[in-house]
Amino acid sequence: MTKYQQIQQELKNSPKTWLVTGVAGFIGSNLLETLLSLNQRVVGLDNFITGYQHNLDKVQGSVSEEEWQGFRFIEGDICNLDTCKDACHGVDYVLHQAALGSVPRSLVDPITTNSTNISGFLNMLVAARDAEVQSFTYAASSSTYGDHPALPKVEENIGNPLSPYAVTKYVNELYASVFVRSYGFKTIGLRYFNIFGKRQDPNGAYAAVIPLWTAAMINDDTVFINGDGETSRDFCFIENAVQANIHAATATDEAKDSVYNVAVGDRTTLNELFSLIKHNLAEHGIVYGQDPSYRDFRAGDVRHSQADTTKIETFLGYQPEYTVGAGIEKAMGWYVHLSPGSRK
Ligand SMILES: NC(=O)c1ccc[n+]([C@@H]2O[C@H](COP(=O)([O-])OP(=O)(O)OC[C@H]3O[C@@H](n4cnc5c(N)ncnc54)[C@H](O)[C@@H]3O)[C@@H](O)[C@H]2O)c1
Repeated sequence: MTKYQQIQQELKNSPKTWLVTGVAGFIGSNLLETLLSLNQRVVGLDNFITGYQHNLDKVQGSVSEEEWQGFRFIEGDICNLDTCKDACHGVDYVLHQAALGSVPRSLVDPITTNSTNISGFLNMLVAARDAEVQSFTYAASSSTYGDHPALPKVEENIGNPLSPYAVTKYVNELYASVFVRSYGFKTIGLRYFNIFGKRQDPNGAYAAVIPLWTAAMINDDTVFINGDGETSRDFCFIENAVQANIHAATATDEAKDSVYNVAVGDRTTLNELFSLIKHNLAEHGIVYGQDPSYRDFRAGDVRHSQADTTKIETFLGYQPEYTVGAGIEKAMGWYVHLSPGSRK
């Protein structure tokens, strides 16, 4: 039995109360689904700014009626301290995911990104500290590595942030560390590296690359590659990120007050990703015949990203179950199913 399986069994035997902020979003709704299927009680908080009721409906459809009874939803904003306090009341473990993602969005509107990601984050820290929760795990980001050139990325070595979004995620880490020194309130930050999988939004100006390209190929639209296609990322399947959150929430005290990379430890270029998605869609009978269209590099993007996952494996017992290829294979099934108008 792996450590992850062991924790899942313990949770089933002794259910906890969890707060998942951003629960109607991509990562939040996947956390919700796993936690409910483990028979946990979950409070969810979301203001639907980038999340959807249909994500919650999908989770409801995937768990039993009894499991769904364990869920209480609060529609509200993390920028409101009273809402955060209400949400934290009686909670054992907080998984704080709510934030405005996307580097380009933060370049267009740094003020809104700042108030959600920094003021909202601070509200959650204060509310969770006052509620004396057992653990507080938050979504940090690989964007914190900024312009640091070293590969793979090791938690201790960061460079200058390259976007307002990256600043907000770094400030989260600074606040988290100050809360240990000032109040003895320990947290864990999970620096996600390009998470992908079911329920990641393919629509909108700020869609992430995998859902964006997949939707374009399904609809036989042009796929645009920013730059020469040799930009690389450590794409990480959602189930690996869910596992990291469950390890973090239940970690020992010694493993807290720290940030951890959440990734596979691999690197895929955008050109390779294009081929991977194309190949997997072909397996579903969707043949994409166009070449990608190359355009300018995107402002604020780091050139290469690949995580060193030694720290999270050593201290939290994380063992990613999905390679990028295995994750893409699973994710494609979901995207094809999602698109009733697909050319299948
Ligand atoms: N997806 C990734 O690859 C990735 C990478 C690094 C970090 N992250 C971080 O992970 C977290 C989750 O990202 P995601 O990909 O699921 O994005 P998402 O946009 O799908 O989910 C974010 C959720 O937070 C909610 N939200 C935003 N502002 C809120 C507010 N003020 N009050 C209440 N709810 C609010 C949104 O409505 C949405 O449901 C974010 O903190 C993001 O910065 C994600």
